[in-house]
Amino acid sequence: MLKNFWYALEFAEKVGRTPRGVTCLGQDFVLYRTESGEPVCLSDLCVHRGGALSMGALTGDCITCPYHGWQYDADGKCVRIPANSAERAIPRKARVDAYPALERYGMVWAFLGDLPEDQRPPIPHIPQHDDPSFRAVHYDMVVEANYERTFENVVDASHTPFVHGASFGNPAKPEIPDFRVQQTDWSAEADIQLSPPPPTGLWGLLARRRPRPEYVTVTNGWYLPNIVKLHVRLPIGDLILYDFNIPLSQDRTLVKIMGYRNFFTGSWADANARKRIEKILLQDRPVVESQRPELLPFDLSDELHVRSDALQVAYRRRRTQLIKEGWWVGDDDIVTGDAPRRTATVIASPARRDNPELASAWVHKARTGGNAQ
Ligand code: FES
Ligand SMILES: [Fe+2]
Repeated sequence: MLKNFWYALEFAEKVGRTPRGVTCLGQDFVLYRTESGEPVCLSDLCVHRGGALSMGALTGDCITCPYHGWQYDADGKCVRIPANSAERAIPRKARVDAYPALERYGMVWAFLGDLPEDQRPPIPHIPQHDDPSFRAVHYDMVVEANYERTFENVVDASHTPFVHGASFGNPAKPEIPDFRVQQTDWSAEADIQLSPPPPTGLWGLLARRRPRPEYVTVTNGWYLPNIVKLHVRLPIGDLILYDFNIPLSQDRTLVKIMGYRNFFTGSWADANARKRIEKILLQDRPVVESQRPELLPFDLSDELHVRSDALQVAYRRRRTQLIKEGWWVGDDDIVTGDAPRRTATVIASPARRDNPELASAWVHKARTGGNAQ
């Protein structure tokens, strides 16, 4: 798992004035909005006795722990300890990690790392979001597999005729003509020629009268740390899926999808679009869950790669560089709690870098499943 990236943690409409618990990189966070609507992301573990802030309530821009009522502001600083008399000062160590958060493209994103603002990798651009000719649907599903396995699965064009059969590939024509990968530090994309199946169902009705091309261009791409774009050019229009692979733990992934289409843009077609996305995920899920080793090898030579795996190889190479730079969630992020029987992962926030003398305050009590290494 990679830290020091912006992670899309939740669909924006699900984050409001009721605290919402989410998990990423094996760590629990609470999301909410301030009175002016700005998203907030804090560690979900109260520094007093480890209560879950997400079970608490909001007062103004502060969140109150449900256990003893400690109140934290949007920067993670404790501003009230009800059991103390008013004249007693609040200890400086009483604070939780606060992560930079923002809303973009219909998602709430948090920067999970401690890099200063000017060194943070960018959030990928999603042009369809502000384009009125597109309509989006949301979908999510938990997959019992490592997020890099689910991520590579969506980048991977050569599995489509086998796993998706006639719904998305053409089993009679599985060859993938050579393609060129266009890469930046944070992304890679390729236009890939796929032999299409005949469209079926509702979408097939409109396409019936048009000639079926021999190949269609599918644009596959990844955007670090965990996003895959899949642009399918159907005879009736464009379908562009953004697939967010959120690591709940190293063995479980929450796949969130934003699916944009520029055909059948009425709300009446949303359920059908969602059903198609679900069908694709349900076809992929058992195959990805069966993969061994469960975790993506660190060494490129531990698995065999062929020409059509070029996008995945580009990802693995880039990941190796970032691991060398210390961006992999690892030993430094695993802390032993006050009760040394368990360990937990704590992703350092920028606030921790700004207040190094307070770091010991954030040695969280461990929570089961927190070990994200
Ligand atoms: S555990 Fe949160 S206030 Fe005590
Ligand atoms: Fe697939």
